Amino acid sequence: MAFDTILTNGLIVTASDILPSGTEIGITAGVITALGLALPHGPSTKILDARGAYITPGGIDSHVHLAQKNSPTGDGWESGTRSAAAGGTTTVIAFASQERGDESLVPVVEEYLKLADGQSYVDYGVHCIVTNPTAKILDSEFAWLFEQGVTSVKLYMTYEHMRVPDRGVLEILFKCRELGMTTMIHAESHDMISFIIEGLERKGNTEPYFHALARPRIAEDEASYRAISLAELADAPILIVHMSSEVAVNHVREAQGRLLPVHAETCPHYLFLLSEEIKGKEHDHFSGAKHVCSPPLRHRMEDLEGLWRGVANGTFTTWSSDHAPSKYDHPGGKKLGLVDGIPRFSKIPNGLPGVETRMALLFGQTEACLPASEAKLSLSRFVQLTASNAAKLYGLSGRKGSIAPGFDADLVVWYPGVEGKRVIEQGKMHHDMDYTPFEGVEVGNWPRWTMLRGEIVWSDDEGGVVGKKGIGEFLKRGRGEVVMGRTGNVPRGMLGDEREYWR
Ligand code: URP
Ligand code: ZN
Ligand code: ZN
Ligand code: ZN
Repeated sequence: MAFDTILTNGLIVTASDILPSGTEIGITAGVITALGLALPHGPSTKILDARGAYITPGGIDSHVHLAQKNSPTGDGWESGTRSAAAGGTTTVIAFASQERGDESLVPVVEEYLKLADGQSYVDYGVHCIVTNPTAKILDSEFAWLFEQGVTSVKLYMTYEHMRVPDRGVLEILFKCRELGMTTMIHAESHDMISFIIEGLERKGNTEPYFHALARPRIAEDEASYRAISLAELADAPILIVHMSSEVAVNHVREAQGRLLPVHAETCPHYLFLLSEEIKGKEHDHFSGAKHVCSPPLRHRMEDLEGLWRGVANGTFTTWSSDHAPSKYDHPGGKKLGLVDGIPRFSKIPNGLPGVETRMALLFGQTEACLPASEAKLSLSRFVQLTASNAAKLYGLSGRKGSIAPGFDADLVVWYPGVEGKRVIEQGKMHHDMDYTPFEGVEVGNWPRWTMLRGEIVWSDDEGGVVGKKGIGEFLKRGRGEVVMGRTGNVPRGMLGDEREYWR
């Protein structure tokens, strides 16, 4: 059997190892079919020379907002996934989103999948945001979601129009536990935040910077601890999304120490940017609106250091973009959040672009780009955070997230040495946004090639995005694995598993 493609001269990085140099990747029909030394070529085998560079699994960005009704100037499927491919991401998981008034999740998911159909440059899965977990939805539609391959839900503890009270969170957690689904939680205290926002507005403190004051760390710390407590009561796996606070991360670490299935996600903006950015330019404070996201960028270096520790020590399961942008300059010159010329931070859409810059920003902090003494994480940890953990947690095991026989040939081939050094600039991005929050940030490398199922879809040195719109396939996901915490051996109280008395 001849391979369609052999990738040679690369240094292959997996979640546990860097394979011996000389190891080649043989690809047949889009799938990795062999790893070995001096693989045999046939007459039609295409040889791709990685020239001594690292090869990592194609990125899985498990937190991407595309075509969201509540951000009409955000990226759609086409531009968002084009941007993903250009940055080394071969799978995105985006959000179908229930609005409060939607009585059924069925049309929510079906209509969302229709938007994606024929538009995507990369493979994609879908999570479902649940804002109103009625008895009908829990009793019949969660099982339907699972059958569709939508095996994870996201809930919000904050935002007036989306938040689910603790009681509803519990109902969802117990249902997800029963079905083997994963619950993602946006953890910020709604009551603290709404109380502060009211006070800030009353006092006329409404410029973008006050967004950071409106959502203090304690609001994230408290809600994260509460989310962990609810998960402990339900004994159900959770992932706390986009964590930004050192104290909240310590709550997670403590829970993991007790073998609770508590996962955490963080995003590049919390590790590369400080809240200073939200002050905007000297004569244009409103430009700080470009950096408004929730939780907000933090103030203290301690938070950044705490987050980097979590990246290195395994507390974080995933490194996601939370790509959730809105355009800064709107058609017609109307800036959202500027109401009759007066800045109103509470009206600025939350979220930043970042699907394209996610991989390179983290790769630049590994020993591939920095002296070992300065590297913030190992290359294997990079692979876990950007691909393999998300594959396991979200039910893509065996197909995505690893470089091994049987897996899809989704790969990133980096540049050797310093050839890949780049400065991030809006002009080089492939999203449909008018800014990048990382403007001017230098990264030690950039994906030279992104390969999706054996085909080059991004070629930095020859043509840019060369994959075709619509080649991305919908991924019907299965049951997630518990990446953190125990895999059995449930602790028992005085009466055994006491839940049996009330569930
Ligand atoms: O600021 C953010 N993160 N907005 C996007 C929606 C979300 O909460 O993930
Ligand atoms: Zn969120
Ligand atoms: Zn001002
Ligand atoms: Zn988000």
